[in-house]
Amino acid sequence: MINSIILGVGSKLPSKCLTNDCLAKMVDTSDEWIVQRTGIRQRYVLEPGQVISALAAEAAKTAISNAGISAHEIDLIIVATTTPEKTFPSTAALVQEKLGTGNCAAAFDINAVCSGFVYALSIADSFIKTGQSQYALVIGCDAMSKIVDWNDRSTCVLFGDGAGAMVLGAKRFDTDESEKVGVVAARLFCDGKLSKILETSGGTSTTCNSGVIVMNGREVFKRSIEKMSMAVQMVLSKAGLATDQIDVLIPHQANARILNAVAERLGLDKSKMIDTVGDFANTSAATIPIAWDYGLKKGIIRKNQNIVLTAMGGGVTWGAAVIRV
Ligand code: ACO
Repeated sequence: MINSIILGVGSKLPSKCLTNDCLAKMVDTSDEWIVQRTGIRQRYVLEPGQVISALAAEAAKTAISNAGISAHEIDLIIVATTTPEKTFPSTAALVQEKLGTGNCAAAFDINAVCSGFVYALSIADSFIKTGQSQYALVIGCDAMSKIVDWNDRSTCVLFGDGAGAMVLGAKRFDTDESEKVGVVAARLFCDGKLSKILETSGGTSTTCNSGVIVMNGREVFKRSIEKMSMAVQMVLSKAGLATDQIDVLIPHQANARILNAVAERLGLDKSKMIDTVGDFANTSAATIPIAWDYGLKKGIIRKNQNIVLTAMGGGVTWGAAVIRV
């Protein structure tokens, strides 16, 4: 039985930091309001001229180096993003060029908005388990600063830019027990009927631009808690695990109130949950690999743990995955 093992992780944030006080000079808001409603204190945004593929490639280089392999060994690149650098080529193709992996790697983007990393991880896992990939590079990256309406105080305070990357490798196990190391289970969902609660005002084939984020905040708040906690329960059931066997929960970092409510609904001690929302805000597809990298650096993620990822985003998409490290 072949399984997908996590070999290396990396992340990269832009250098420009926008604190809540900076935003209060741009729109009618305050540090107190933002912290109280979201837990966000600051976010990082691309500088003029900076491109998301460069950020993604930096995160990828760290992940590849931590994996102890060479970029030439990567045979699959999946980039989860809602803010591609160009309509085409894919951001994955641009990252491949920057990494110099050669032309042996299949490379493509997927768009599942904030659920993108969980979707991409699950696709890479399928490639590996079916023998189509040996070393897969999975990236979540977004430049949300490019699609927020900077005049809309109810959305512009929520988002930031960033990139996170993970290298998965194929490993053959002989015994049933050791099969559980690596990606144990994943579940993905979408309900297009809910698409209007979180969308952009346009797109390349309608308005010839990306449009800006339009959101029904209260509905997104409610659905995020409902969908993420449900996805965790469903993936745990698929993996044959109980909630108390979760060692670390990495929910999509939307806002602190949503994270706390998910932990509460699952009956999970909040100390088991990684929360980076105060420092980096919501970087969409990038939040989970950035939080994973943070967890490794802080010693929160260690060997022999069950890590559970969950996300909800535009679409509406949602999903969860269990990974044994
Ligand atoms: N600063 C000050 N006041 C604000 C701001 C702001 N940045 N934004 C909104 N307000 C005002 C509103 O105008 C409103 O004023 P009014 O009563 O005079 O009309 C008041 O605050 C209350 O607004 P609500 O929208 O009712 O505030 P709520 O308590 O629902 O909080 C929030 C808004 C934080 C957006 C909340 O709904 C939320 O967290 N929703 C989830 C959104 C989210 O995380 N989206 C991310 C993308 S989706 C994902 O990643 C899963």
